[in-house]
Amino acid sequence: MEYNSSDSVRLDGSAVVIIDQTLLPSRTVYKTLRTAEEIYEAIKYLRVRGAPAIGICAGYGMYVISAGIKTDDPAILLQKLSEAGEYLCSARPTAVNLSAAVKRMISAVSENTDKPVSGIKDILRNTAEAIHKEDIEMCRKISGYGLSLIKNGDGILTHCNAGPLATSRYGTGLGALFLGKELGYEFHVYADETRPLLQGARLTAYELDKAGIDVTLICDSMASSVMKAGLVQAVFVGCDRAAANGDIANKIGTSGAAILAKYYGIPFYVFCPSTTIDLSCKSGADIPIEFRDGDEIRTMFFREPSAPDVKCYNPAFDVTDAELITAIITEKGICRPPYGKNLAEMFAE
Ligand code: MRU
Repeated sequence: MEYNSSDSVRLDGSAVVIIDQTLLPSRTVYKTLRTAEEIYEAIKYLRVRGAPAIGICAGYGMYVISAGIKTDDPAILLQKLSEAGEYLCSARPTAVNLSAAVKRMISAVSENTDKPVSGIKDILRNTAEAIHKEDIEMCRKISGYGLSLIKNGDGILTHCNAGPLATSRYGTGLGALFLGKELGYEFHVYADETRPLLQGARLTAYELDKAGIDVTLICDSMASSVMKAGLVQAVFVGCDRAAANGDIANKIGTSGAAILAKYYGIPFYVFCPSTTIDLSCKSGADIPIEFRDGDEIRTMFFREPSAPDVKCYNPAFDVTDAELITAIITEKGICRPPYGKNLAEMFAE
C-alpha cells in the first residue's frame, strides 16, 4: 500500500480530488473540488468522510482556496483564508481533525507574514502535504500496534468505517486487518451496517472484501447476537474526537457496541491518531455532537421505510465513556486506563 494517486483525497495541481464516497460501492467516481463552496459541500454531505480524511481534505482545500486569492498583501491573504477556514469548519463539528487542519494552515500563514504571498502559498502546499504524509505514517504505526492486540483467526466486530477511505492508507480501526492480511493472517470481520448512512455496509464491507479479508455484514441490532455466539474476540472502532479523560466520540452506535462488549467481556479498542485527540475537551460532554437531517432516517435507498413526516432524532455521533474502553491505540503506543493520566503523559509536549 504505497502513497499513490488512488488515495481517497489528493491534490491535483490547484484542485482537491476525492473519491465520492456517497456513490460507493456501486460506482467509483472521482470529484474535483476547486472552490470553498465545493469543498464545504463535499465534507458536509459525506462525499469525503472519516475524521483523518476530512482533515487531509481541509488541508488541501485551504491551499486550493489560497491559490484563488488574488492579493500581494499577506494580511489580506490571512484574513480571507481565516474566513474560508471558519466556513469549512462549520461543515461538520465533531471530528477535531477538520478544525485542527484548518488551524494549522492558518498558522502557516500567520507565522510567515514577513514573506511574499507566493512564498506563503508554497508553505501552505507543503503544510497540506505534510498533514497527508503524517497521516499515512500514523496509520501505519497504529496498524502495527493494533495487530499486536489480536491473533490469527480472531473474529473482529467493526462499526462505521475507519479504513483507507476514511484516512490515507491502511486506516486506523481497520488498519491492523489490512496489515495482517499482508502478513498472512486470516481474520473474520463482522461489520455493523451502521445506520442511518450505512458506512459499514457501503464502505467497510467493500474495502475489506476487495482486499480479500473475510467479512460478514450484519445489522447493527445483531452485534449482541454475534458476541453471544462467541464469533467476536475484539471490537475495533475509529474515533472522531477523544477527550482528555478518555471519553471518545465516534459514529452513532459506537457506545452501544462498547456497552455490549463490556457485558460479554470482549475487549473494546479505539484507534485514534494524535490528530484526533483533543485534550482541550475535559470529557465527552465537551465534544460537540453533530445532528443531521431526519431525512437520513426517513428514507433509505429511494424507499421510505417510515411515515414521511415522522419526527426523527438523528445525532451523527455518540460518546463512549472511558470506562468502557479497553485501550486507545495511537501512533505513540497503546494507552490503557487511567486515561486522564496516561493520555496526558503520552502527549506531554
Ligand atoms: O460520519 P462519518 O462517516 O464521517 O463518521 C466517521 C466515523 O465515525 C469514523 O469511525 C471516524 O471518523 C474514524 S475514521 C478513521
